[in-house]
Amino acid sequence: MLRTRRLRTSEGIRKLVRETELSINDFIYPLFIEEGEGIEMEIQSMPGIKRFSLDNISKEIDELVSLKIKSVILFGIPNKKDEEGTETWNKNGIIQKSIRFIKKNYPDLFIITDVCFCEYTSHGHCGVIKDGDVDNELTLKNISKQVLSHAKAGADMVAPSGMMDGSVKIIRETLDKSGFEKLPIMGYSVKYSSSFYGPFRDAAGSTPGFGNRKTYQMDPANRNEAMRESEYDKIEKVDILMVKPALSYLDIIRDLKNMHSLPIACYNVSGEYSMIKAASQNGWIDGEAVMMETLLSMKRAGADIIITYFAKEAAKIIMESEI
Ligand code: PBG
Repeated sequence: MLRTRRLRTSEGIRKLVRETELSINDFIYPLFIEEGEGIEMEIQSMPGIKRFSLDNISKEIDELVSLKIKSVILFGIPNKKDEEGTETWNKNGIIQKSIRFIKKNYPDLFIITDVCFCEYTSHGHCGVIKDGDVDNELTLKNISKQVLSHAKAGADMVAPSGMMDGSVKIIRETLDKSGFEKLPIMGYSVKYSSSFYGPFRDAAGSTPGFGNRKTYQMDPANRNEAMRESEYDKIEKVDILMVKPALSYLDIIRDLKNMHSLPIACYNVSGEYSMIKAASQNGWIDGEAVMMETLLSMKRAGADIIITYFAKEAAKIIMESEI
């Protein structure tokens, strides 16, 4: 008889035939670090996620280490913004100071930096404004300065998130000619203009002051364009491709996985996190179970790496299940 249920009769056999498994090694945890002292501020729209000043960050990183989380991506909140976001390449800027501090005190933690300007520009856009829009070439020049300053501070990987054309190329050239040919690039290659970023923009203070990001981030309706974006990044020598957001774009994750042999990352963004938290706090869903099912779906879709605010909670569950 045709019976698919034979392989579901006990946890023993279910585990044997399980096709996808989450591992703590898959996770990257985002850290929000703010210029100043004594700051440990809960982000209202992201329950459980905080902004820290550097003097308070050790507590958070100690917890990550105890949970065996090995990678972080840093987001800086500066106290000075200007038209071009010049703080992004200040060698004593918040990100540069953070990299040096973490490298010194936690040499085994893998540090990724988000290469962008929106938290640092007075207008909140991801580059230099000219004639009412972000200018690609002027922004590339500044990306080059920013990335070199992250590399010099000791970053382990850089992740351009501004969706400027040619950013992977200019970053690779800059790094190679400055002695950083070993530093990998994780491209936010396929980044959609998404409403799921709402809570992050509160967290990082990066909401655009005018207009929106539709002239540089992708239209959520487009699938073929994701093929082009990822292909161009590959030509420019990206090392890891990323799809962002994750949950509404699982088809795109799978497309990229089928099309490329490069590792695929996805960003389980703030809105995806906060929706689950809110429904869970209301008692409408089992938050932990939905979290694990969601993360699993990203892995099953083809993600090798998941950037997620759930990393700590998921790591706890994974650790307990291994005992
Ligand atoms: C841009 C950037 C954004 C996120 C990470 N890097 C947002 C944006 O385009 O406004 C969003 C992350 C999230 O929502 O969790 N520097």
